[in-house]
Amino acid sequence: MITTEKKRIAIERTSHSRLPQTDFGHLAFGSTFSDHVLIADYSKGKWGEARIVPYGNLELSPGTSALHYGQSIFEGMKAFRDVNDAINLFRAEDHRNRMNKSARRLCMPEVPAEIFIDGMHEFLRLEAPWVPAGEEGSLYLRPLLFATDSFLGIRPSENYRFIIMACPVSAYYPEPLRVWVTNSYVRAVDGGVGYVKAAGNYAPSMIANKYARENGYNVVLWLDAINRKYVEEYSTMNAFFVIDEFVVTPKLTGTILEGITRDSLLTLFEDMGVPTFEREISINEIFEMHDKGKLREAFGTGTAAVVAPVQTITYEDRTLELNPDGFKLMPAAKKKLADIRRGLEPDVYGWLTQILPE
Ligand SMILES: Cc1ncc(COP(=O)(O)O)c(C=O)c1O
Repeated sequence: MITTEKKRIAIERTSHSRLPQTDFGHLAFGSTFSDHVLIADYSKGKWGEARIVPYGNLELSPGTSALHYGQSIFEGMKAFRDVNDAINLFRAEDHRNRMNKSARRLCMPEVPAEIFIDGMHEFLRLEAPWVPAGEEGSLYLRPLLFATDSFLGIRPSENYRFIIMACPVSAYYPEPLRVWVTNSYVRAVDGGVGYVKAAGNYAPSMIANKYARENGYNVVLWLDAINRKYVEEYSTMNAFFVIDEFVVTPKLTGTILEGITRDSLLTLFEDMGVPTFEREISINEIFEMHDKGKLREAFGTGTAAVVAPVQTITYEDRTLELNPDGFKLMPAAKKKLADIRRGLEPDVYGWLTQILPE
């Protein structure tokens, strides 16, 4: 656990906080925003000073190149209120590294630590009252970087805007997941952008997610684009299976997002003495293992959903059913992660930064 020092970032405070009207008992994911945003602009080859201003609309040229050509990337991370009322930010440096990997792939400028990390700390110090209390609550933080040149033509923009905004959230999926495996659509191809958090990865996935929701499923499980055979990931989560006593997750091939929750869970399982394997897993193997009674658990991991158990998986004309109430390894790792984040277990991995109050 590291603690933060105060940094100088210009702050314009809102005169109309929405905190008193916010019902923390009924938070729909992604629809309640905190009072402020952090903004930093990149121009003429360098970053300007970050500033914190009241949450509000942006004024953009209709020619804003991110809107036309999709030079836009983001991150999703969380801060938690621990049992001693301290605010803990989870794996911020890892999220910055991933954002900068996305930036490199999309020819965008990397975001320096003084803006991403110091800015995030200062932003959180100010927005601390927006971090919900309780086991399921957290403040979801959304760093966003997009191209702001007003220019029609395909070339990397010369101007960019970085924003940090925040939403107080509670549980993402209240029920175990009903999964639909698609082999008619694909999410990512080798050499593409599947391994980074590009806005453009999400728009093409919507049609499959829409079909899934309209047909009684919650999420889509994507297969590899070439063979349409190997499990890749869910639209916003990495995929895990427990086969016999082993934890198995698809290996990172360049088409799968390197999830920070995925990495956290692999670390926790290893330390719990549970063997983990990162390898190719075909969808046929999943059904075969289920038929043999060896598929014990299936779940998804991601910052928003944290760890979500799977109830059913449907592929072509077959559906397999699991019993999430009987899962053992997933709930044990989920609890360990929650306990670390809430200060009930020591942070031996150095995942947390404690944000000191204003
Ligand atoms: C496509 C995709 N896969 C996996 C994840 C999980 O990644 P993380 O655990 O870093 O949130 C996310 C969410 O960020 C995602 O959008």
